[in-house]
Amino acid sequence: MSSSTLAMAALLLWVSMLRGSTAQLDANFYDTTCPDVLSIVQQVISNASQTDIRIGASLIRLHFHDCFVDGCDGSILLDNSSTIETEKDAAPNVNSTRGFGVVDDIKTALENSCPGVVSCADILAIAAEESVAGGPSWTVLLGRRDSTTANVTGANTNLPAPSENLTTLITKFSDVGLDTTDLVALSGAHTFGRARCVSFIDRLYNFSGTGSPDPTLNSTYLATLQQLCPQGGNGSVLADLDPTTPDEFDNNYYSNLESNEGLLQSDQELYSTSGADTISIVSNFSSNQSAFFETFAQSMINMGNISPLTGSEGEIRLDCRLGCGASLLLDGSDGEKFAIVNKNSARGFEVVDTIKRAVESACIGVVSCADILAIAARDFVFLIS
Ligand code: HEM
Repeated sequence: MSSSTLAMAALLLWVSMLRGSTAQLDANFYDTTCPDVLSIVQQVISNASQTDIRIGASLIRLHFHDCFVDGCDGSILLDNSSTIETEKDAAPNVNSTRGFGVVDDIKTALENSCPGVVSCADILAIAAEESVAGGPSWTVLLGRRDSTTANVTGANTNLPAPSENLTTLITKFSDVGLDTTDLVALSGAHTFGRARCVSFIDRLYNFSGTGSPDPTLNSTYLATLQQLCPQGGNGSVLADLDPTTPDEFDNNYYSNLESNEGLLQSDQELYSTSGADTISIVSNFSSNQSAFFETFAQSMINMGNISPLTGSEGEIRLDCRLGCGASLLLDGSDGEKFAIVNKNSARGFEVVDTIKRAVESACIGVVSCADILAIAARDFVFLIS
């Protein structure tokens, strides 16, 4: 082999090592760079749950809403900015998803221990597992990186709606590589947490435009829900997704479906759609909690594997709500961009974003945004001189 061929082969190897975008997720990903990552996340969630019993439910739902929109890439966490239209304003999320402050607290704790290392996408995956305390556990695969973009249109179209029928639910899951068993198992997360009246009120008074309640609803349960959610009342009032054990992670969700006490139409569809494959899966999980826990754990891993960014793709955000993180570059209404001296004046942020992306694809998580600004200033002086 000639020396030039050898040099070319070495270069190609080097480039492929740098890019590494086919990298797999790995349970040991942070073993050397942030060995305490799991216990740090657990501690913050455990503290938060002292004052917010619902926080586990809210956090696991964030991971779901993240993964179904362009993969598990932390995109749901990005706030509005000059370059981002936030997914938080999409219909399935607005006035509904919560727990963002706890994610910020986790990120702060991790940045204190291992700066610039743990992605926000991985925080959501770990938080989801830590959230089902008392329920199943699983080994969380890690190594996801954070998106530099959000997709509000994707959030509006890909996420399933509570009024959707079984065929549509199966399709939306299969679109992201999840099967019918995953659908039934993951819906079991509705064993805890809350839903607003607005998410199921049609079932109580005007199901599918019939002018009558959903005929599958247990009549006693219907009366209770009608009392909680009167017609023309406050749509933000909360109901327990599992009326029997509202804050426990158990298999009662499935026995509720068998007694026609699924809160959302999408829940009851799993058991009440005649001839559906899902019925026997519901019955199995209802009679066998271990089967539910085991399948749920595997399905959470399957969901966490949806199109992650790995290797040199995306970035490691320093703040889960924002992209590139030198202080002037930080977005948000109280960011320095909005100080009087900068407002309507400082510009070039998009170019800095582009530089950061290019630098990240060559040297992952290495060059700070602050240094990018310093180098850009020097290069500009060089260019014009
Ligand atoms: C199968 C399709 C699904 C539909 C149609 C659906 C829909 C919904 C809706 C409408 C709510 C209540 C939102 C509100 O009223 O503010 C909700 C809450 C919730 N969902 Fe789902 N969901 C589905 C699947 C999942 C999956 C796969 C998970 C997690 C693995 C999940 C976890 C939760 C949790 C834990 C809550 C309660 C959150 C809280 O209390 O903050 N859901 N879901």
